[in-house]
Amino acid sequence: MKKYLLPRIWHLLKTGKFREEISAHYKHKKKKEEAVKILPEISLEELTGNIQPLLLEMEARDGNVTPDELKALASLSARFKPQNIFEIGTFDGRTSLNLIANAAPDAKLFTLDLPKTAITETALRIKTGDRKFIDKPQSGSRFLNTPYAARIQQIYADSAVFDYTPYHNTMDMIFVDGAHSYEYVINDTEKVLPLLKNGKGIILWHDYGWYEVILALNEYYKQDPRFKKLVNIKGSTIACLILE
Ligand SMILES: C[S@@+](CC[C@H](N)C(=O)[O-])C[C@H]1O[C@@H](n2cnc3c(N)ncnc32)[C@H](O)[C@@H]1O
Repeated sequence: MKKYLLPRIWHLLKTGKFREEISAHYKHKKKKEEAVKILPEISLEELTGNIQPLLLEMEARDGNVTPDELKALASLSARFKPQNIFEIGTFDGRTSLNLIANAAPDAKLFTLDLPKTAITETALRIKTGDRKFIDKPQSGSRFLNTPYAARIQQIYADSAVFDYTPYHNTMDMIFVDGAHSYEYVINDTEKVLPLLKNGKGIILWHDYGWYEVILALNEYYKQDPRFKKLVNIKGSTIACLILE
């Protein structure tokens, strides 16, 4: 982890963002005690009935969602049968694989991941805990040799600078599980909202349990009328917004 420190400091000095990043780091550290989960809880059954999703690659590795969370994501995909899915944070592709395996038969999934060479040069602050999931030999290894790979498009970019406009108004389901700093959760949320087809569909966030994700999503829930139906799936760190 320390190996990234000097290149990151150098990048921040070069781009004039050093002071900004240090003050954001301390500001959010101070707010840790305010990060209490406030979203209403809803059971998976209330959202999906007793749907039995197809579950593939169940073994959870460090960085993956838990088996129960995978079941929740797969069940929601089976229930809503999205045609187009957008994911931020490919990692080893376990969530991409299970989302598409349960979606509409000809569904397409677009999954965005930060190239590991860009780890020290992100536009926004990356938390130390995110670095080990960025620095991996391959993105999407769990779907690459499956029949689903042909319907999954991998995109390599920083979610803060990626041009989302070609995907606007085309998606039915979105899963946000990229970087977990407050700034990235806000960025990713703002960037994915216009992706929904006619403003309708389902947006899911992982890690409503990491304090900066809690801070960002609580703020949306309290202050932004678009998020009044935001809920937390019981027994999981998945936040879910269904816009109808
Ligand atoms: C926790 S992992 C996702 C785990 C995955 N959902 C699963 O359960 O299999 C987070 C992923 O987000 C990616 N990521 C982190 N920062 C990013 C950024 N700024 N832009 C795009 N992807 C990013 C990392 O490379 C990593 O693959």
